[in-house]
Amino acid sequence: MTEKLPDNIKKEIEKLVQELNYHCYRYYVLDSPVISDAEYDKLYRHLKELEEKYNYVLPDSPTQRIGAPALEKFEKVRHTEPMLSLDNAFSYDEVREFDKRLKRLLNSKDDIEYTVEPKYDGLAMELTYRKGLLFRASTRGDGYEGEDVTQNIRTIKSVPLKIEGEGKIPEEIDIRGEVYMDIDEFDKLNKQREQNNEPLFANPRNAAAGSVRQLDPSITTSRKLHLACYGIGMVKGISFKRQSELINWLKESRFPTPAKIKVAKGMEKVIEVITEIEESRNSFSFETDGAVVKVNDFGLQQKLGVKTREPRWAIAYKFQAHQGTTKIREIHGSVGRTGVITPFAIFEPVRIGGVTVSRSTLHNWDEIERKDIKVGDTVVVERAGDVIPHVIMVVKEKRTGKEKRFPIPEKCPACSSRVVREEGEVAVRCVSLHCPAQVQEKIIHFASRGGMDIEGLGEKNVELLYTKGLIKHFEDIYKLKKEDLIGLPRFAEKSAQNLIDAIERSKRTTLARFLFSLGISHVGEFAAKLLAKNYENLRKLYRVSPEEITEIKQMGKKIASSISTFFNDKKNLDLLNVMVKDHGLKIKNPDFISEKEEHMPLEGLTFVITGTLSKPRKEVEDLIEANGGHVSSAVSASTDYIVVGEDPGSKLQKAKTLGVKTISYDELLKMIEQKTRNPMLF
Ligand code: IVH
Repeated sequence: MTEKLPDNIKKEIEKLVQELNYHCYRYYVLDSPVISDAEYDKLYRHLKELEEKYNYVLPDSPTQRIGAPALEKFEKVRHTEPMLSLDNAFSYDEVREFDKRLKRLLNSKDDIEYTVEPKYDGLAMELTYRKGLLFRASTRGDGYEGEDVTQNIRTIKSVPLKIEGEGKIPEEIDIRGEVYMDIDEFDKLNKQREQNNEPLFANPRNAAAGSVRQLDPSITTSRKLHLACYGIGMVKGISFKRQSELINWLKESRFPTPAKIKVAKGMEKVIEVITEIEESRNSFSFETDGAVVKVNDFGLQQKLGVKTREPRWAIAYKFQAHQGTTKIREIHGSVGRTGVITPFAIFEPVRIGGVTVSRSTLHNWDEIERKDIKVGDTVVVERAGDVIPHVIMVVKEKRTGKEKRFPIPEKCPACSSRVVREEGEVAVRCVSLHCPAQVQEKIIHFASRGGMDIEGLGEKNVELLYTKGLIKHFEDIYKLKKEDLIGLPRFAEKSAQNLIDAIERSKRTTLARFLFSLGISHVGEFAAKLLAKNYENLRKLYRVSPEEITEIKQMGKKIASSISTFFNDKKNLDLLNVMVKDHGLKIKNPDFISEKEEHMPLEGLTFVITGTLSKPRKEVEDLIEANGGHVSSAVSASTDYIVVGEDPGSKLQKAKTLGVKTISYDELLKMIEQKTRNPMLF
């Protein structure tokens, strides 16, 4: 039973929410709390009690950050204004070129005023606020359409649930920023994952992205994420003249903004600020791989406009990669799922750009020869952006004579079978059909995220189940019972049930995923998707000939032969039948494009064109009609899309009031492209 809400309690709740939000801001945005954690917790608990007792919960109450139920899937969100990417500059000269280009375009010799700020290596996010309240958070996606991740973003403590503070509150605003994970947090998370036998994240960016794209917000809550806001999209009820003015408003409104952001007039000053940021980047708590230079004046930004995907008024200067020196302790070979043996080095742990590096792949045996790498060598190791660390060179001056060559193995390190190296190939391969490393890698691949996506069936657990004889082939996964698992190391009642549930869930899958998970040689995610576009179901692939596969433009001879061999092997077909019939795999194929759809991808859709497009209007009309669409000259409720070019007319306004979807010419091409079974590569 909830009690009636007396006025004084209502006021108390409102005050508590305000107070707690303020303390949250002090702690998570300003990093300068004014009360202790214990005091905060006490206030929080008190608020929670009152909310429950009187059933009065404000939308921006801090209690609303957590506790949302897990989702089935993310809804798609179209960005009102596309989320663009940035052009890169790799030298100061390229930044100078950028400035010269802008002066030329603006036909002016005056120094341009820029803002310079760090480029955060995270995940771009759009936060929509309506009447000051956080309404929705969406990922960038392809720039036009992202995913609704509101309930996860709410859990990030530095994200204001309500626009507060000294700034004016707009009617509606799309605030853009980057969600990222601090390096320390990333290291901690990976350590934890290692202990739990979960796959490690390659870098803080992947960790942040993986944490945001969680259907269960309680997982996101447990990952400490941050936000830095650097821009806006659509806005109503407030206007800004400059980027620096926007940043000030964001600050006043309690949004976290980029560290060290500065206004710099003229190129030499810009370069000075970039250097400052680069020099201090090792002291940042987050990973940054560059500095973003933006024209400060929004009027000038407008004048300069955008290219297809990037604005002309901004550029990202990329920093030099992080390097460090360390010693190679050991070299080993690891066996992949196709039997290829890849050498890797184990180093004395070294911190490079804030991340501890203790191993790296050496790619292949030729590379070891070419770089003359030996066990005991001191080497320069580089970590560039998201790239996994690699050895750049040996510091020969540090050699003592005790370094040892590491010869190409004659036997497989996993099963001691002989290895082969085919003429002209760099790869060394174990050809045993029973090599446990290969079998395990095949199972790991089958269960991986891009494949059947069985959570909890990573490297360590596959190794465990394989050595216990519970799975000898990926098909055996579907024979596992809870009783088999309980009592094994790391498995108790709950964890066993979780794995069984994950296996059960994986049975509902798509043809593209399933094909990828089978580990057919050369069939990666892209090829699997292409097959799914062209073949309605698994059966249609049975006994397929290589010639038929090569009819798909992007399928070469090598891949066609490997696909055909797989689907002409009786044992393989029996296995597929068992998986579908006995284990009850439900394979849907949403990617399939029927012949009719392919010929008429725009069938049933009405388009209106406004503004100047990059192609003559007649050509665009013909294109729409050739693809089954209809072109109309006036916007009405039955218009499906309005294709918008430069300087659009009043039709756009009308379309907006009617809620007609607006697309660019590029997006129109994309719509057609998506429905072709033989897409061209751009
Ligand atoms: S401005 C039109 N500022 O970098 C301008 N982007 O490579 C687009 N990013 O998608 C964004 N830090 O996710 C801007 N300070 C910053 C940034 C930043 C990171 C990301 C952003 C964007 C990507 C482009």
